Amino acid sequence: PIPLWLDCDPGHDDAFAMLLAAHHPSLKLLGITTIHGNASLENTTINAVSLLEAMGKPDIPVYPGTRKPFSRPALHAPNIHGESGIEGTHLLPKPSRAPVLDKNPILAMRDALLAQPKGTPWVVATGTLTNVALLFATFPEVVDHIQGLSIMGGAIGEGFTDAPMSKIPGETARIGNVTPWAEFNIYCDPESSESIFSNPVLAAKTTIASLDLTHQVLASKQVQSRILHGSDLSKPPTVIRQILHDLLLFFASTYEKVFGLDAGPPLHDPLAVAVILSNLNPTFAQRNAGQVLQFDDRGGERFGLKIVTDGEHGPDVSVTGQLGRSIATPSGQTGVAIPRGVDLDAFWDLIIYSIQLADDC
Ligand code: BDR
Ligand code: CA
Repeated sequence: PIPLWLDCDPGHDDAFAMLLAAHHPSLKLLGITTIHGNASLENTTINAVSLLEAMGKPDIPVYPGTRKPFSRPALHAPNIHGESGIEGTHLLPKPSRAPVLDKNPILAMRDALLAQPKGTPWVVATGTLTNVALLFATFPEVVDHIQGLSIMGGAIGEGFTDAPMSKIPGETARIGNVTPWAEFNIYCDPESSESIFSNPVLAAKTTIASLDLTHQVLASKQVQSRILHGSDLSKPPTVIRQILHDLLLFFASTYEKVFGLDAGPPLHDPLAVAVILSNLNPTFAQRNAGQVLQFDDRGGERFGLKIVTDGEHGPDVSVTGQLGRSIATPSGQTGVAIPRGVDLDAFWDLIIYSIQLADDC
């Protein structure tokens, strides 16, 4: 299996990223660091520990990471994920173990990644990028050692796809989800994000699942029913299925309230994990010829990615500021990959498959 480290802020969609990372037999989840983002670090950490127990993987270590960005206050998203960061279900267990507190989380990431053969491990980030920026700034040798970095973040928009977010009535120019320009994970800590994308060696190993992609992946009513029942409607749902379904219903309701999206919530974060199981991971694709998830990367196009770091978080930003905007410029062979589409059926099959495996735990 391919080793990976997951940095996340669970988070309704993070829960599905964890599920895929923890259960897919071609992946080996080395550990999890949590980050400020959807909720406080305290909450995202409790949520991560509790979710791992619920999905039958209580032994995967969880390290609480960074509380806030270095140069800005932490922002949270209670309007989307609720105060706890993962509202909508009463079935999540109270964690029966503590997160790991006796080792520095960034050192834990470094040690776990360097213990894997060179060129094999991946880092997946589905939250704000403070921990990940700190990892590569503190231990630059990790940049050379990893195979890839896969990030959920960014909103590219104009001229890139037909910008699904722009379908929101009355907001024709909108491509972001926290301001008209910016996506939440990048907006929360633009400086950390910029430090990652401005490192050419790291950028060349990086794939971005931006909103342009993730807004194509909507957890429709039909998907929700598959998650709850599998293929046998007569079987009562297992606890993990009920939890995941409850979470999706809550996520759907906030997306409808905040964005007017009634076709189902976009399941952003597991796409960043799915990248490892796809044509965007050449070694995996070679080994599993013809059987990998297909992302549309327009024949391997790459982009220079710049993040706007001017400006302050604040009420005016949503109207005029471009803080956290991601500007992608075609860059030939170098720069990050930003896939534009994905084989939706195959993606949902991956999610359903990991739920079946969680059922058996
Ligand atoms: C991202 O922001 C968070 O709210 C989600 O978990 C996802 O990682 C989408 O912009
Ligand atoms: Ca997230």
